[in-house]
Amino acid sequence: MGEFVEWHADFSVGNSSIDEQHKGLFELVNQMWDSRKESEKKKRVLFKGIVKALRTHCHDEERILAKNGCPSLKEHRHEHHNLIKQIEEILDSCDKDCKKSWYKMMGFLMHELLAHHLVGTDQACRKYLRS
Ligand SMILES: [Fe+2]
Ligand SMILES: [Fe+2]
Repeated sequence: MGEFVEWHADFSVGNSSIDEQHKGLFELVNQMWDSRKESEKKKRVLFKGIVKALRTHCHDEERILAKNGCPSLKEHRHEHHNLIKQIEEILDSCDKDCKKSWYKMMGFLMHELLAHHLVGTDQACRKYLRS
């Protein structure tokens, strides 16, 4: 069986370390999908891993955008900030009802993170991510 989501060369920003991090985020989305029947405890561990990976990624990406003088750095940073805020709220909601949080997390990852940010905003900044 194929992966749930797959990184594609069209999503490349032309920087191998950023591309590797993006691939890693796709991989974590696959792990999330695979975790649907796992225990709440396992789901929570995975949620935490994604929060951590996203924080690191946003930080690294912002450093490169700043170094290359990206004109939309402020907006990009703001979007990262919102993504992290949202994902942390979902992680917190896991304390109440982790099953429900799993659906929220999948929705967030597919829509906000992959479709909107990685394939949208990051692509628009590729010129400033190349080196
Ligand atoms: Fe990114
Ligand atoms: Fe980004």
